Amino acid sequence: MQYAVPRGTKDILPADSFVWQKIEAACRKIFALYNYMEIRTPIFESTELFTRSIGKTTDIVGKEMYTFEDRKGRSLTLRPEETAPVVRACLENNLIGPDLLTKLYYIGPMFRYERPQAGRQRQFHQAGVEVFGSNDPLLDAEVIILNLQLLSEIGLKDLEVDINSVGCTKCRPAYRKKLSEYLKDNIKHMCADCQERFINNPLRVLDCKETKCQKYIENAPASSEVLCEECKTHFEKVVGWLDGLMVRYKVNNRLVRGLDYYTKTTFEIVSSKLGAQNAVSGGGRYDGLVEELGGKPTPAVGFAIGLERVIEIMTNDKYQILPAGRQVTNEGRIIIYFATIGEEAKKIGFDMLQKARSRGVSADMDYLGKSLKAQMKVADRAGAQYVYIIGDDEIKKQSAILRNMQTSDQQDMSFDRLFDELKI
Ligand code: HAM
Repeated sequence: MQYAVPRGTKDILPADSFVWQKIEAACRKIFALYNYMEIRTPIFESTELFTRSIGKTTDIVGKEMYTFEDRKGRSLTLRPEETAPVVRACLENNLIGPDLLTKLYYIGPMFRYERPQAGRQRQFHQAGVEVFGSNDPLLDAEVIILNLQLLSEIGLKDLEVDINSVGCTKCRPAYRKKLSEYLKDNIKHMCADCQERFINNPLRVLDCKETKCQKYIENAPASSEVLCEECKTHFEKVVGWLDGLMVRYKVNNRLVRGLDYYTKTTFEIVSSKLGAQNAVSGGGRYDGLVEELGGKPTPAVGFAIGLERVIEIMTNDKYQILPAGRQVTNEGRIIIYFATIGEEAKKIGFDMLQKARSRGVSADMDYLGKSLKAQMKVADRAGAQYVYIIGDDEIKKQSAILRNMQTSDQQDMSFDRLFDELKI
């Protein structure tokens, strides 16, 4: 009996994991440039954390959460996103406070029970940031620029920033009312989900992806029409900064995003190289969430990039990080391979192997009783720079051949000189 990977999940195999490592390294490099520190939270949290923050009427909470009871009957949920867990962790550990700007980042798996398709999985990975403590519109702009710099560091091109303001608790009721009035006449032509959304939370209708609903969404009143003075000024300043920094963006007044916690700025970075799921990244401001989860009122802003989508674009682009044919890179995985012939040579080879490793030099040897020729092949595939070939004669001489795998040069090298000569 063999088992298959669960629907909507994928193994990241050795041939691909180095691509992930490169992307993760780029994330860490850029996050550090902007002075963010890493936070790691558990994969599961109490279910209420997510229902409270993301919102009961959202698709994520309504249909997509992996929720289960533990043996003591507590309701737990695999994290569908990381903003709420980060807020929870900050409150629990006093990481946020007055006169303090807290800049955090994370990289890790998230879980949503969605219909799998290209760019949409049930377990997927996000890299994201959350900043707490400032309502400065420049910070919204900085977060967007960080997002763009990160995607450009990874090598993605032709990205577009979509930006909107969804207002705040002061101006949102007026928008809801205006939207409800508009939808009243049209809702009967829209999908069953939208009819339900219309009753529970009309704003959610704008997030519908059904084709038949799109023309009604496109003609819906824009949130910008009813923004209060504060939200309007904030938005003007954010786009003003983006203009000043020469960032190209498109104002999309229907961008409400799939989570209820947003206030003021919302944004997505989309790529024409993706299909229906074209958002590489999404985020925005959420000035009410910290208070909603039991903390003092604290403004916050953040985003998360979907790493599978980044990889999809890179694959479609035949991006250079992926070697031809998507094979394991040969690029110097190990420095030296000890090829051994016979039991005694194996013993001596293993001593040398451990000596190399203890000096911080990556090294390996054979454990399958392969022939010398086969061992040379393995060494080559591992990208070894050198092979040291030990047999019975070599043990007698206390000296063996050191082969440079790049130049094919071979020289005799005594056992005790090997490490000094190679400066390892
Ligand atoms: P989100 O838009 O739900 O936002 O997700 C962010 C990104 O995660 C999306 O743009 C997409 O690239 C990726 N993503 C989402 N769902 C899937 C899926 N099923 N399969 C593959 N990729 C997916 C959030 O999660 C917010 N927490 C972002 C945020 C941080 N807002 C403020 N701070």
